[in-house]
Amino acid sequence: MSGLVDLHCHLLPGVDDGAKSLEDTLEMARALVELGFSTVAPSPHARPEYAPPELVEARLSETRAALAREAIPLTLGRNAENVLDEAFLRGLGTPAARMLGAGPYVLVELPYTAPVPALPDILFRIRTKGVRPVIAHPERCLEFERKGRAAEAVRAGALLQLDVGALTGRYGGGAKKLARAFLEEGLYALGATDLHAPVGARDWVGRALEELRARAGGQGFERLMRANPARLLAGEALESEGD
Ligand SMILES: [Fe+2]
Repeated sequence: MSGLVDLHCHLLPGVDDGAKSLEDTLEMARALVELGFSTVAPSPHARPEYAPPELVEARLSETRAALAREAIPLTLGRNAENVLDEAFLRGLGTPAARMLGAGPYVLVELPYTAPVPALPDILFRIRTKGVRPVIAHPERCLEFERKGRAAEAVRAGALLQLDVGALTGRYGGGAKKLARAFLEEGLYALGATDLHAPVGARDWVGRALEELRARAGGQGFERLMRANPARLLAGEALESEGD
């Protein structure tokens, strides 16, 4: 049986605020393998101040080669963490779009400290392009502190991605409370590490995964960390859904 699947981490070297060097990348990869992961879709921030897609693509190839050379059994997929701006929306449906795998899913992030009153309209625009948004770490975003907003996004067709570290308080008490509540309400479609650096990775990700298993149960854990992310990366529908 294949291992866990991480659709949100900053594993590629020198493309954003994640791994700073190939040594960082390899150390992070080894930690993920030890924690049970077999597949990762590194998600560099798609922002003007960070690496353009061509450089990300080159780093993805280099990292795959380095993993093979070091005999680290981790399969890498394509991905990016997109900002919900006008350029992103215009790019959807064109070759410029930075999709999760080959689509139709796309990973997006909202601002942490600013409201997004237009969120329902934005989600609608994404869906009309035949694309399904996966929202990164909603528990860390101000917009989802508004009561009912997370459930509303799910009803609008978004998939919510838990940042597992939130469960153990890595991002503060507010994010911890929201993460635990959204998990309890069954709002998450998947979990991910959002790993940025090798320091302490085995320890904090390990504890976060244990917390998730304790709260979601064995079956819930499998669904959030293995079955659903594998299906999204392959472009397949989730088991519980018809579309
Ligand atoms: Fe991220």
